[in-house]
Amino acid sequence: MRRLLHLSDIHFGPPHYEPAAVGVESLVRELRPDLVVVSGDLTQRARARQFRQARRFLEGLGLPFLAVPGNHDVPMYRVWERLLDRYGAYRRHFSADLEPAFADDEMEVVGFNTAFNLTIDNGRFTGRQLAGVGERFSSDLSGAVRIAVAHHPLAALPELMGWRTARRSAEALAVFAAAGVDLVLSGHVHVAAVGRAPDCPRRMWLVHSGTSTSRRGRGAEQGRNSCNRITLEAGPEGRTARVEQLVWSEDRGRFEVDTVHECELA
Ligand SMILES: [Fe+2]
Ligand SMILES: [Fe+2]
Repeated sequence: MRRLLHLSDIHFGPPHYEPAAVGVESLVRELRPDLVVVSGDLTQRARARQFRQARRFLEGLGLPFLAVPGNHDVPMYRVWERLLDRYGAYRRHFSADLEPAFADDEMEVVGFNTAFNLTIDNGRFTGRQLAGVGERFSSDLSGAVRIAVAHHPLAALPELMGWRTARRSAEALAVFAAAGVDLVLSGHVHVAAVGRAPDCPRRMWLVHSGTSTSRRGRGAEQGRNSCNRITLEAGPEGRTARVEQLVWSEDRGRFEVDTVHECELA
């Protein structure tokens, strides 16, 4: 059995919401997950200080973590930097690795950077990334759950309010399926969602977290914070991922279970 805590859109900077961040710290102490995943938008404006705050926060949890960039982690208004050194601040102040990976004998988690944006916020996969997916999921651990992490949505799940998917998402879903991916963890829309990847030859689940620690929740999640507790289990009846969507309760000052999805894996 493995446990992950999936955070997203933690947005250090003005919209960051400290009470929810303290709530995440308590949750981590309580759950002791094997890995904390952050599916992008670590900062609001890709500033050095915001990256350092995000790094301090994640390192302070005291557990292995894996994070990928989101569109907010590329400078939007510092035009030259955006054109010439898009990931400079990320690399210098958060991590040199834009596409980290984590593996043990029960799970293989691989990060993909979809934040190639120059002027707009929707992301994309590159041909090079798509060609390399099979190689990146390279372990020969039979039965290990394979998890891809990418900031932008790969399919228009109903909860995502019609937000655009990353460019080349359909191709990405196809190569993920061919590589045996079971779960794709994403964010960006600031809304929680869980659903089967559509038109997919393999049973693959798309799991979104809302914004875990910012005031930027959208739609029905305006002013709300969420994250996902994911439990991976292998039993005689097959492999499953239980995704518990946790929502921040302002009154009780803690994250609480809102909705539970039992995802059967292939
Ligand atoms: Fe965001
Ligand atoms: Fe985003």
